[in-house]
Amino acid sequence: SRKYLLNFKGCNFERTLVDMKILEKLDDFEIRDDDVFVITYPKSGTVWTQQILSLIYFEGHRNRTEKWDTLDRVPFLEYNIRNVDIENRPSPRLFASHLPYYLAPKSLKNNKAKIIYVYRNPKDVLISFFHFSNMVVKLEASNTLENFMEKFLDGKVMGSLWFDHIRGWYEHKNDFNILFMMYEDMKKDLRSSILKISSFLEKDLSEEEVDAIVRQATFENMKFIPQANYNSILSNEIGTRHNEGAFLRKGAVLWFTVAKLLTVPLSPCPLGEISRASIVPPSYTEI
Ligand code: PPS
Repeated sequence: SRKYLLNFKGCNFERTLVDMKILEKLDDFEIRDDDVFVITYPKSGTVWTQQILSLIYFEGHRNRTEKWDTLDRVPFLEYNIRNVDIENRPSPRLFASHLPYYLAPKSLKNNKAKIIYVYRNPKDVLISFFHFSNMVVKLEASNTLENFMEKFLDGKVMGSLWFDHIRGWYEHKNDFNILFMMYEDMKKDLRSSILKISSFLEKDLSEEEVDAIVRQATFENMKFIPQANYNSILSNEIGTRHNEGAFLRKGAVLWFTVAKLLTVPLSPCPLGEISRASIVPPSYTEI
């Protein structure tokens, strides 16, 4: 996995996509009060939330009159794949990131800048990550799900250990201006999730605007919106091993047990109760 992963201060990054210049200067990266971040462990609803942010902030996007890719609207901080001039972007800057809490820019702490942290039950993350890693040239493929699961449970994947990521952000939530969103809740009720996000962002939206955002943030629609579904990035900047996959694969909630555990709202945090064993379904059926 050394060919694919680069370990920086204890966290694994995709070696060829990560921007070292940015990583090394993360500590001092200057945050503005009106910056907005979507932070996730990989495969937990990043693109979905990037799309929601694009739709909330850019009217033209909402009306589908603008052709910008969501990834350019909401670029990754550490994976600056398209070399966006992130420092000089006009406000409000929107960012996505898979960074663990301890690598976040120092000035994000106790700052007004907003973070939306999206988490997803680890069993679906595991399945999604397995298929993604097999599809994408830049990630290490695994022959079997069991094989990938070993790496996942050892944190030998991009983003390192799911437990550490989610627990780290949760336990340090008081240091940040952060809203926790659960993928499964977004799936259950997209409209109220969007209202929750827009109210956290202090964005007043009309009924019609909310309707338009809901419409364009459903899995079914995002799959057919080229700007939102990452397919061009996959085939151009990232590269795929085969043509069968798509970034938006199933977008489903399959493992209810853990999802339920996580629904016991994040306070008090039930995450500590999730053991390695609870991730592992008793037997696998290929999904
Ligand atoms: S990445 O590579 O870390 O940025 O991936 P990420 O975007 O976090 O996660 C990809 C999974 O999110 C699903 N997805 C959605 N689910 C429901 N609704 C919408 N609108 C949506 N958009 C993306 C996507 O399908 C991936 O999950 P799987 O289970 O593989 O389908």
